[in-house]
Amino acid sequence: MKYKTVGKTGIQVSELCFGTMSFGGNADRETSKQLFHRCLDKGINFFDSANVYSGGVAEEILGELIAGRRDEVVITSKAGFPSGTDLNARGSSRRHLFLAVEQSLKRLKTDRIEFYFIHRFDSLTSIEETVRALDDLRRQGKILYSAVSNWAAWQIAKALGVSAKECLAGFELIQPMYNLVKRQAEVEILPLAESEKLGVISYSPLGGGLLTGKYGIGKRPETGRLVEQNNYTKRYENETYYAIADRFSAYASERGIHPATLAVAWVLSHPAITAPIIGARSVEQLEPSLAAVDLEFTEEWRKEITALSIDPPLATDRSEEAAN
Ligand SMILES: NC(=O)c1ccc[n+]([C@@H]2O[C@H](COP(=O)([O-])OP(=O)(O)OC[C@H]3O[C@@H](n4cnc5c(N)ncnc54)[C@H](OP(=O)(O)O)[C@@H]3O)[C@@H](O)[C@H]2O)c1
Repeated sequence: MKYKTVGKTGIQVSELCFGTMSFGGNADRETSKQLFHRCLDKGINFFDSANVYSGGVAEEILGELIAGRRDEVVITSKAGFPSGTDLNARGSSRRHLFLAVEQSLKRLKTDRIEFYFIHRFDSLTSIEETVRALDDLRRQGKILYSAVSNWAAWQIAKALGVSAKECLAGFELIQPMYNLVKRQAEVEILPLAESEKLGVISYSPLGGGLLTGKYGIGKRPETGRLVEQNNYTKRYENETYYAIADRFSAYASERGIHPATLAVAWVLSHPAITAPIIGARSVEQLEPSLAAVDLEFTEEWRKEITALSIDPPLATDRSEEAAN
């Protein structure tokens, strides 16, 4: 396992982050424990969570698992999606962020969260209010760095400008979706991260299971997130994605490599990526993703695999006239 510095911070994290979204959901307490320890054995020191994963149970389980070894791990959490029925229990207002951090710290049984994410853009709250609230939480020591997920590049860039203008701490880490069929991040988000030296931990390297060999045109497993969860069925409903999955699985099998290994390695090979966030419901599923760090992944493979999918449209027109 290699370790990388997160953006401009001095924090060293493993080049794979483990996502705890399955904890308390399709991974029960015992399986979560096995997943956590297998990650530690492999050298992973970086664990991603959120206040809404399994209604808070994922954070509780992570809290139990890190007890006694808190200083060996770097953890994240997030707020933004509804965390209760109250009208204000959502979004990135000062009120909700202060409440959500307190609740997460309790569930995680810790006094600090290294990277605290705004989970999604909140159009009702000004960016000024959000970055000031995060800066205050940092000064209180409850979060060490602020971070953002699922924001457009212009929103992140605007927030960085606001932080600089107001002398507030800016985002250090971002968390976009990124995999072989969802490459939107390449257009503006990853270039922004490289330009501003932001860390990037991207999620869904396997497309929620799409790139593991079990999906294809006319091919669906009996169980699996893309057939069980409506939001994922919709996110990946484009049949072109299944055609890409077929081509990708064939490419992997020609080389005798598990598609999941190759899919994670492909994400990891992008120069802007600090660590892909891997996910699994069992240790058996986890192994191929972990194996990505042992693969000697070449530039040529990156090019060939990328060519199996579809380039996202560029951010501006007249790019054919670009000077460099
Ligand atoms: N910021 C955000 O909005 C956001 C959103 C999503 C995720 N995340 C974070 O990113 C983490 C990873 O995301 P993700 O779970 O979407 O990642 P992913 O790697 O794209 O998908 C993981 C899923 O793929 C399937 N899978 C994994 N390995 C497999 C294997 N060897 N064989 C067959 N199926 C396999 C499993 O689902 P099935 O068994 O159901 O098929 C597993 O839960 C999450 O835990 C979370 O921390 C963040």
